[in-house]
Amino acid sequence: MKFTAEKQEWSNALPMVFRQVFTDSEGATEGKVIGALVSELLASTPDDDLHAAIAHDGPQVLGCILFSRLRFDQDPRQVFLMSPVAVRTDRQKTGIGQRLIAYGLDELRRDKVDFVVTYGDPTYYGKTGFFPISEKVAQAPLPLSHPHGWLGQSLTGAEMVPLKGPSHCVIAFNKPELW
Ligand SMILES: CC(C)(COP(=O)(O)OP(=O)(O)OC[C@H]1O[C@@H](n2cnc3c(N)ncnc32)[C@H](O)[C@@H]1OP(=O)(O)O)[C@@H](O)C(=O)NCCC(=O)NCCS
Repeated sequence: MKFTAEKQEWSNALPMVFRQVFTDSEGATEGKVIGALVSELLASTPDDDLHAAIAHDGPQVLGCILFSRLRFDQDPRQVFLMSPVAVRTDRQKTGIGQRLIAYGLDELRRDKVDFVVTYGDPTYYGKTGFFPISEKVAQAPLPLSHPHGWLGQSLTGAEMVPLKGPSHCVIAFNKPELW
């Protein structure tokens, strides 16, 4: 298994991988929604605002994470949203997800990203350093339907000073039903 951040090279395969993984775990409707989200993220997000972490075995994608920029108008720090995350159904629970997250966060750290947020299961993401945050620390770009799933971590080791102002996600995420 190898890890890469080369999103362009793998862009044709990624929407289908996400669609299949989420179809298996959440049903066909969610599979379509997440597949379409990934297509749109890859097609419409400026290069600087989108990072990927891909695990592969030769030509086969084993897992993938996308990281897209979250802008805080009144704060100079660089913040990214880690979502979505998928590991091939037949390779789940073998540690790929956690290794992929660690790889992606290292890449972001190298790119001088200050803070990463995600929206998901606090128990799972707690294994890779995420902790629950309130919207006083980082305001979500749209209303959260599950505020207890709003998580974050600093990549600099600096004490977490609240991020200033409202935040703006990239256009592909600007849909209330995704939050
Ligand atoms: C959620 C998801 C990304 C996790 O990825 P994963 O590769 O299965 O996760 P990991 O293997 O890193 O960890 C999962 C579990 O396996 C365990 N595990 C890790 N390595 C292991 C190993 N070598 N042997 C056995 N178990 C192991 C972990 O401790 C963890 O335990 P838990 O079930 O108590 O939480 C993956 O299951 C997935 O794609 N799910 C469907 C889509 C989804 O829900 N995405 C997240 C929302 S965006």
